[in-house]
Amino acid sequence: MNYLTEIVYLIASVLFILGLKGLSHPESARRGMHFAEIGMLMAIVGTLVSGHIVTWTWIITGVAIGSAIGAAMAIFMPMTAMPQRIALSHAFGALAAVLVGVNEYIEKGIYHQELTTGLIGAIGFEVLFGALTVTGSLMAFGKLSELIKSAPITYKGQNFINIILFFTAFGMFVYLIFFPYNSVIFYTMIGLSFLIGIFIVLPIGGADMPVVISLMNSYAGLAIAATGFAIDNKVLIIAGSLDGASGFILSIIMSQAMNRSFTNVLFGAVGSSQVDVSALAEERPITRVGIEDTKFILEQADRVVIVPGYGMAVAQAQHTVRELSDELDKRGISVEFAIHPVAGRMPGHMNVLLAEANISYDQLLEMETINPTMDSVDVCIIIGANDVVNPAARTDKSSPIYGMPIIDVDKAKTVIVMKRSMAAGFAGIENPLFYSPNTKMLFGDAKKVLQELVAEFKK
Ligand code: TAP
Repeated sequence: MNYLTEIVYLIASVLFILGLKGLSHPESARRGMHFAEIGMLMAIVGTLVSGHIVTWTWIITGVAIGSAIGAAMAIFMPMTAMPQRIALSHAFGALAAVLVGVNEYIEKGIYHQELTTGLIGAIGFEVLFGALTVTGSLMAFGKLSELIKSAPITYKGQNFINIILFFTAFGMFVYLIFFPYNSVIFYTMIGLSFLIGIFIVLPIGGADMPVVISLMNSYAGLAIAATGFAIDNKVLIIAGSLDGASGFILSIIMSQAMNRSFTNVLFGAVGSSQVDVSALAEERPITRVGIEDTKFILEQADRVVIVPGYGMAVAQAQHTVRELSDELDKRGISVEFAIHPVAGRMPGHMNVLLAEANISYDQLLEMETINPTMDSVDVCIIIGANDVVNPAARTDKSSPIYGMPIIDVDKAKTVIVMKRSMAAGFAGIENPLFYSPNTKMLFGDAKKVLQELVAEFKK
């Protein structure tokens, strides 16, 4: 039976790796996801046939509760709430790791006094990282769903306090390696880790939250890999390491996309300094445009670039965007889509939506590819994007997003911005693009406006 379990685990691990590989391109992402799903199913089957299960009642109850929660989250939480949903999943995964670690400690430590240095090292690491991931991810969930203030919460000596807390917990971990049966220290270390999770996410907010989510992904992975060592389960070691490494790499990629150093994201307390943009908007003139004029402007163009953002996702306008693209295409106008790496609310958000609307991958261009050609674009249509096209990131040193690479839409000959009002985006800051002489504002819900525009073309 053991032999069979190991083979099943090996196949599951290969499927996880193929799954991750598939996720690196939109075309293969769906297939990758299926590989990973089958891998997970095999890992569960492998565990069931391994013969170490307690009772079927517990297994079936666990599967039923887990599936009910998972299915409800998948069905009822909207796509735009994906980062929050992922944060919750990390919290659950990490909580499982902590509980397994505590169970191992009680079983092998308190009952049987069998804690080797390796075992207490693995259990200690597991609960240390697991506990801080639980509360860190719950904080991230709270901030992203605005249950708690999403802006950074700072106080004097914050980094110093965090460092002291971390080193105290780490000191306890080292102590346990030498004196593993001191359960007071063990449980105090877990309590401190829960606190650390809260404190490290407090000063992070606004646009930096995605980085926190993927960092928590990485921590949860490390905790799970340690669980694998603690209970001698190879598939947990492999899956946890994949999770830990990929989460860490994603955090670095996202920091780079925002031109922020990793340490700056974690300790810089920058996120969203909310500016009263409505007051500013009243003072400065903007140019409005209507549906008919927009159609006229588009008809004169040879090259049109569409920049989708969070608003397109909220309005679920991707299918109507495709209809517009088809109408332009029929008239011989070239249409491309410029994709910013952090447009929307999750990595790859725009790619997923546009793929859902069957927009060809060849039409999707990364920011670095499209930017050098922006001055040859006749019309740039911005659909519910704001921060990712904010030129203040290039020009205003005092802006919280200064240095973040943006799509240089302001270099296009004409810019049409589709949004409902002059309201700010995620970073809560004003966008000078809206007042620029070559910008025209087309106000309204993205889907509704696009439907009217497509109808105008079809007339
Ligand atoms: P945002 O800067 O958030 O701007 C979205 C704009 O869409 C808003 O200004 C809003 O203006 C408009 N909007 C909302 N609903 C709309 C609707 N129904 N129809 C038309 N417009 C609508 O979006 P972005 O440019 O995509 O930038 C993403 C931001 O989110 C960045 O700051 C990024 O760092 C952050 N973030 C990204 C991620 C990832 S990984 N992608 C995760 C979390 C956070 P109105 O209210 O006036 O309509």
